[in-house]
Amino acid sequence: MAEDTTVLLEEKRVFKPNYKIVEEAHIKNWEAELEKGKNIEKYWAEKAKELEWFQKWDKVLDDSNKPFYKWFTNGKINMTYNAVDRWIHTSKRNQVAILYVNERGDEEKLTYYELYRQVNKMANALKSLGIKKGDVVALYMPMCPEAIITMLACAKIGAPHTVIYSGLSVGALVERVNDAKAKIIVTADGTYRRGKIIELKKIVDEAILRCPTVQTTVILEHTGIPIELSDISGKEVLFDSIIEGEDDKCEPEIMDSEDPLFILYTSGTTGKPKGVVHTTGGYMVGVSTTTKLVFDIHDDDIFWCTADIGWITGHSYIVYGPLLVGTTTVVYEGAPDYPDPGVWWKIIEEHGITKFYTAPTAIRHLMRFGDKYPRLYDLSTLKILGSVGEPINPEAWIWYYKNIGREKCPIMDTWWQTETGMHLISPLPVTPLKPGSVTKPLPGIEAEIVDKNGKPVPPGKGGHLVIKTPWPAMLRTLYKDEKRYIETYWENIPGGVYTTGDMARMDEDGYIWIQGRSDDVLNIAGHRIGTAEVESAFVSHPAVAEAAVIGKSDPVKGEVIKAFLILKKGYSLNTALIGDLKKHVRHELGPVAVIGEMVQVDKLPKTRSGKIMRRILRAKEEGLELGDTSTLEE
Ligand code: PRX
Repeated sequence: MAEDTTVLLEEKRVFKPNYKIVEEAHIKNWEAELEKGKNIEKYWAEKAKELEWFQKWDKVLDDSNKPFYKWFTNGKINMTYNAVDRWIHTSKRNQVAILYVNERGDEEKLTYYELYRQVNKMANALKSLGIKKGDVVALYMPMCPEAIITMLACAKIGAPHTVIYSGLSVGALVERVNDAKAKIIVTADGTYRRGKIIELKKIVDEAILRCPTVQTTVILEHTGIPIELSDISGKEVLFDSIIEGEDDKCEPEIMDSEDPLFILYTSGTTGKPKGVVHTTGGYMVGVSTTTKLVFDIHDDDIFWCTADIGWITGHSYIVYGPLLVGTTTVVYEGAPDYPDPGVWWKIIEEHGITKFYTAPTAIRHLMRFGDKYPRLYDLSTLKILGSVGEPINPEAWIWYYKNIGREKCPIMDTWWQTETGMHLISPLPVTPLKPGSVTKPLPGIEAEIVDKNGKPVPPGKGGHLVIKTPWPAMLRTLYKDEKRYIETYWENIPGGVYTTGDMARMDEDGYIWIQGRSDDVLNIAGHRIGTAEVESAFVSHPAVAEAAVIGKSDPVKGEVIKAFLILKKGYSLNTALIGDLKKHVRHELGPVAVIGEMVQVDKLPKTRSGKIMRRILRAKEEGLELGDTSTLEE
């Protein structure tokens, strides 16, 4: 691996894995695996055999009713049986399944056997409350073992869950619960965040008045703050009281491969959130395979994904993927910088975490505190790092690689979406890495970069990222909105391909570089340039901590750049710095990057998962309505 890790925006080096990584890896030959993946049905059928099916499928892929694809038709399976039950008959029985840690330093461990019993009790309790196969259960919960127990209990009895991120507000909660027609909400008294307790039950109390389908609210006493139970709008019961006395055995519901597993809401281009529907068999095959191969999971691993269960990353890579491959999954409740910005690194040392998966925004945030904090801890157990959610700028990549991975851990920059359910474009641990590139589509996945007519664009040129062939964990529809499903994903670009909504380019080695959402791409005097690229250029300047860029209309060039900048301590946006930044960005990106305006700000509007909401900046700029702001952090 390279020794010099000085930060360069134009990071041209290729980082190859060390011999230890290669020696351990399940997949040692990346190219050969990619070749194998070309026979899609054969490839995924082989992976599906690693799960336990009650009845084998008839057909791997049924594409007779495009774009309503079906996977593993007529196969019978149960998620929880595979994620929990089957391990208790193996040596994993007493292995830790869930390792819960919070920002206060509390911790709790649940073995697979303990998890099995808790899930069964909760599954029986849900049945006692009248929940049957097909009924929707809403969760509005902290990051805690009981949230995962509830998700698994739902999956065990065939009740689709819809997890609503605990940071969303009353309006968003009401909208999602009502759209899904949830019969039950499972919530908690509160959740810990940066030294405070956020009172979830109070939010539910307000929401529930506008949620007519909800018959029962289940409340977990998690933080111990006083709560009052009332029966004004449906029954309220305590989590502990409903599972008390329930049998700790529960037969899994025999699910069809295409029975829904969950609905997860995500923001679209319109104000109304989209209810992304995932089904059972294909999703299980997709997430178990990618967890195992991308993070190279072995028996002694401790896997930590820092996302929240309220997002797809939490569903696929905190809960289902890790448990399906029988590893230990870490559940962390709290902020990344409380009580201090070393809290994550401390947890890695204390628990000997081996695989760590986070988001570029968190890296950039923690980077601002320098290398002082990571240096305080022994991070030598780490083997593989991951990144997800937005393009990682080379500066953050190098910092992560050097200070957290200590120059020995490859970084898996995983590209995927709520809709894709699983990683689609990502390196494997043995892949030679280029900082900022998500490398190539995973084995079994076919992606292409095309123009708006569906014609492939030549290497080096930006275009629309499309997925050419179906994959097992793909969304099956948008809940109760087949029309929007077809229009959003299958009709934008001709050729029967899945439109991702992202722009990307491919380099001469076939490596993919994500440029950002298609609505976040600027057109300056006929030249296409991604907002993410411009932002990366800004943050590579020593004065800039974070940047968000939008297009500002210009009578001559069509669009120019307007940049909102958070500066590092000790800098202010004076004339000299403005001149210097213009020069810097122009130097990095060429004369096409014409900056119209720069403003210094304290904060940027972000989604709770850390993505900058440029739409909000644009709307404010143009004096338009803000639209759906339910996912806005504050
Ligand atoms: O724009 C891409 C970006 O996040 C979008 C999907 O967002 P969401 O459904 O919230 O899921 C986030 C977690 C999977 C994509 O359309 N994105 C995700 N991963 C990457 C990324 N952009 C660049 N690089 C990534 N690794």
